[in-house]
Amino acid sequence: MGKSSKDKRDAYYRLAKEQGWRARSAFKLLQLDEEFDLFEGVTRVVDLCAAPGSWSQVLSRVLIKGERVGRAAYEDKRHKEFLRLRQAASAEQVSIDEPETPANQPRKDVKIVAIDLQPMSPLEGITCLKADITHPSTIPLLLNALDPDFVPTSTSVEAAQPVDLVLSDGAPDVTGLHDLDIYIQSQLLWAALNLALCVLKPGGKFVAKIFRGKDVDLLYAQMTILFEHVTVAKPRSSRASSVEAFIVCTNFQPPKGFKASLENPLGAGRTVKPSSEAKGERTQACRRTRADGITELELGSDTEDEDQHGRWIAPFLACGDLSAFDADASHKLPEGHVSLDPVQPPTAPPYKRALEERKKMGGAYGKTKLGEMK
Ligand SMILES: C[S@@+](CC[C@H](N)C(=O)[O-])C[C@H]1O[C@@H](n2cnc3c(N)ncnc32)[C@H](O)[C@@H]1O
Repeated sequence: MGKSSKDKRDAYYRLAKEQGWRARSAFKLLQLDEEFDLFEGVTRVVDLCAAPGSWSQVLSRVLIKGERVGRAAYEDKRHKEFLRLRQAASAEQVSIDEPETPANQPRKDVKIVAIDLQPMSPLEGITCLKADITHPSTIPLLLNALDPDFVPTSTSVEAAQPVDLVLSDGAPDVTGLHDLDIYIQSQLLWAALNLALCVLKPGGKFVAKIFRGKDVDLLYAQMTILFEHVTVAKPRSSRASSVEAFIVCTNFQPPKGFKASLENPLGAGRTVKPSSEAKGERTQACRRTRADGITELELGSDTEDEDQHGRWIAPFLACGDLSAFDADASHKLPEGHVSLDPVQPPTAPPYKRALEERKKMGGAYGKTKLGEMK
């Protein structure tokens, strides 16, 4: 496929190059921010599975440089539209000046740590770590990056200066075997959540990529033990044909007595009492006879059982401005379009060795080299 045809078939791939993003994934985070205002009051962020770094770029532009992208850009656009409509509706036809876009507002004391298995080209103001988020040794590494004076103890690991937002866009190299891919993805999510529990402050937010498998409702139910609001969101830039979605969890409120621990990730093995049982709300079946002689039978509800076996339905939200490009459609290229090179080619892609081997073999289909034909 030629470069121009890829530009045509994937508007976000083209836009990413034009706007200087390292990957089209940047638009997913921007569209999630449009909907959930993720960066409000946020200064300390952990970006897990961050390479090649387009989410970190978004963080850098919003928090360090104070640029108005994502939610802020969306609000500016809405405001301009509102003024235009008001002007059109005004009987006096008074002209209203185009409002100025507010100036950039960099935030103070911003701390951003990005982690990935792959090396990541540096980004100003961001601490990049090359590590595996599923490995226990990554937790102290992260805590040290957040606070160099931090000394982890074996029993309890918590950030001395907790963070406001943990992001995880982790994805394994998909095999095409859906069940396996979903399983590996869930392991990444589990690791990301475990890291989040060690560093998030109460009230903090957690946003992570998920693959929508058949038990996504179970995942949702588990998240509601830890966060007040949980939504599964699908940004417009995420292809409808992909099982990918994002779980957006806000207002972190760990269960009473919960302590993040290296030995006991996610509090595994400990049980959290169902809240209804704790409040003594379990009701029993009862039979009573009304004055007219009819017997009424009220079935008791075993809330513990419901908590264990009932299914939950996660609120599902499609997000991103409806006028934004459809990720599954081909789009006409703008007049005079010149196809650009990607902003940041992968530094060490997992397929690098395969490409080298293929080159050695004589090209895409292992054709015989000219020299060998003679
Ligand atoms: C979709 S990409 C992330 C894109 C990134 N958010 C961006 O905007 O540029 C998924 C990343 O997950 C990383 N990853 C997969 N498994 C990982 C693990 N166990 N630990 C750390 N990173 C991992 C991969 O190396 C890959 O770079």
